[in-house]
Amino acid sequence: MKDATEQMTLTDGEEAALWGRDRLDELWARGCAFLGSDVAILGGAMSWISERHLVAALSGAGGFGVLAAGSMPPERLAEEIEATRALMAARGRQRTFGVNLITMHSQLDALIDVCREMKVSHVVLAGGLPSAASIRKVKDGGARCVCFSPALALARKLVRAGADALVIEGAEAGGHIGPVSTTVLAQEILPQVRDVPIFVAGGIGRGEAIVSFLEMGAAGVQLGTRFVCASECIAHPAFKKAFLRASARDAVPTVQVDPRFPVIPVRALSNKGTADFVETQRQVIDRYQRGEIDQKSAQLEIEHFWAGALRRAVIDGDVETGSLMAGQSVGLVTREQPVAEILDELVTQAVASLARRAPQSTPF
Ligand SMILES: Cc1cc2nc3c(=O)[nH]c(=O)nc-3n(C[C@H](O)[C@H](O)[C@H](O)COP(=O)(O)O)c2cc1C
Repeated sequence: MKDATEQMTLTDGEEAALWGRDRLDELWARGCAFLGSDVAILGGAMSWISERHLVAALSGAGGFGVLAAGSMPPERLAEEIEATRALMAARGRQRTFGVNLITMHSQLDALIDVCREMKVSHVVLAGGLPSAASIRKVKDGGARCVCFSPALALARKLVRAGADALVIEGAEAGGHIGPVSTTVLAQEILPQVRDVPIFVAGGIGRGEAIVSFLEMGAAGVQLGTRFVCASECIAHPAFKKAFLRASARDAVPTVQVDPRFPVIPVRALSNKGTADFVETQRQVIDRYQRGEIDQKSAQLEIEHFWAGALRRAVIDGDVETGSLMAGQSVGLVTREQPVAEILDELVTQAVASLARRAPQSTPF
């Protein structure tokens, strides 16, 4: 039988792991304090699926869930905020979570009013550069305002306009994307902008990658793709199955056939829908060239192709013609598992990578 002193002695490995965990907590302390979470990992809002269940699971497990308002009218958003709080209360764990609003929404002001009335603590303004007035309206209501910045100059502009934190999202991400990779955006922005916490998104699927961005100065990270196959996520089983089968190279940006007819780039798994989209663009452009339709109608026809396509795939399970929005990290999604287990895996990987650098314990 071991005596008490022996029982309390930690192995070198255990000591290194404790050191790694302390170091991780130090690295993302600013992010955790900003979010009010245990780990500075945001579950990026995903239209249709970042609803009460996924958000409550993320925040309940110590991360930070973000409700996707998407195209919801204000009354639906109010209902969803209420339901998320009720779900958390039922589990006895009321934690902070955010609400993601799309700036192009025709009722943006009314949606911000809902967040203000319901005392939402964090509002994320996404889908285009928010106006200074929108940022002010969010903040005047008492919430923290998080904005997306696709470039250094815009990051500075958003901070001047009052953004309390930024998300920088690289082209590896799922959904609507910009042209620049996560690693380049991080190098451009993280060393230059220190005034507000910055969360890095796009292509992150393991803890080691989280550590690398934290060490570059990020306050935390935002992941979307990695949470699609969470057990608590309401995505259709066929949508999850497509994720489990896919590798990084299957998650590709939409193809634009003709620069005269711009296409908003969206990263999604290639399927019949993506091939049909190319064909549709060709046919519409041929009709335009033959003088059968004007440029505006041609552009509208192209834009309407994907209307409702994400819902069709993620809720109805139409994985053939719907939009299977996914980031390149989809290859790292290998099984359906609870949110708490995913977060735990990410933290364990982060701690292990830091522990490898723990100083050797010095004998007395
Ligand atoms: C299916 C899907 C839907 C998404 N919908 C939204 C959205 O409605 N609003 C938004 O700001 N971002 C949206 N995103 C982006 C995520 O919030 C997140 O920033 C992104 O997934 C992070 O990169 P990752 O996919 O490499 O993890 C979506 C992403 C996916 C995969």
